[in-house]
Amino acid sequence: MARTAMQLIARVGLRQSEEQLQHDAQAYWTRDALHAPNMFHWRGPEGIPDDAYDRMGARNVERFRRFAAALDFPTTDLRILEWGCGGGALLRAFAPHANQLVGVDISPESLDRSVTELAGTGVPFEPILVTVEDPEAARDRLDTPVDLFVCINVMELLPSNAYGLRMLRLAHDVLRPGGMAFVQIRYTTDDTASRPKRAFYRANTAFMAAYPLDEFWETCQRLDLIPQLLTIEPREEIIGDRYAYYALLKPEGGTGPQD
Ligand SMILES: C[S@@+](CC[C@H](N)C(=O)[O-])C[C@H]1O[C@@H](n2cnc3c(N)ncnc32)[C@H](O)[C@@H]1O
Repeated sequence: MARTAMQLIARVGLRQSEEQLQHDAQAYWTRDALHAPNMFHWRGPEGIPDDAYDRMGARNVERFRRFAAALDFPTTDLRILEWGCGGGALLRAFAPHANQLVGVDISPESLDRSVTELAGTGVPFEPILVTVEDPEAARDRLDTPVDLFVCINVMELLPSNAYGLRMLRLAHDVLRPGGMAFVQIRYTTDDTASRPKRAFYRANTAFMAAYPLDEFWETCQRLDLIPQLLTIEPREEIIGDRYAYYALLKPEGGTGPQD
């Protein structure tokens, strides 16, 4: 009941500060989430069965392959960074395309699982632990730009829309010119219930950031991550409804992000 009440209050527009939301997000992913049922980003008894877990990775690699084919983007020997890598489901699926994998997350437990998940792939894996308050620490740890930046099943649970854009600026910083950001958002519709919530992170975890499709497209342009292609999934297995996938390219000799 308390959870439903908090969802309703957030829905009518109560706002908490960005600092509070960041604090609560950090606490959720490093404490509460460890005991939450159906952690779909973990394999096995605490998460989801192997077949569903593997389908999640395969589905997203297939989307990337389609984007890459349409854009004549390379698919071998890539240095790939995933923001919010969880238990490594996606990185494992991407491994055949990579010569190096980097996983950024705020949860030490999830990074440990990624290490285990990726151990058999034969591709070197660098886990990077950050905090919600200081995501820029990941950029400071990287000495080589990446070819592909992946962020899937994460943007909707960042503390706010503004925080999502902060993460995209980091994507721009760490990508090589010509590199691709393959990014998924939860999108809003005319239904007011689809708007991002601004309070009670624990009760609204997967509904904290959401964007209109066209606004997100234009925002990426301003951030010098030029949108090329978009796939919309109104309803999807395991993760739910209203997801969209963008292929964004960092131009060679681009202007850099406009603030
Ligand atoms: C739902 S899981 C998705 C994991 C993976 N991307 C997948 O699809 O299997 C979300 C992950 O994002 C991480 N996360 C949450 N907030 C984050 C943030 N601000 N920065 C980086 N990672 C974050 C969580 O710890 C968790 O591992």
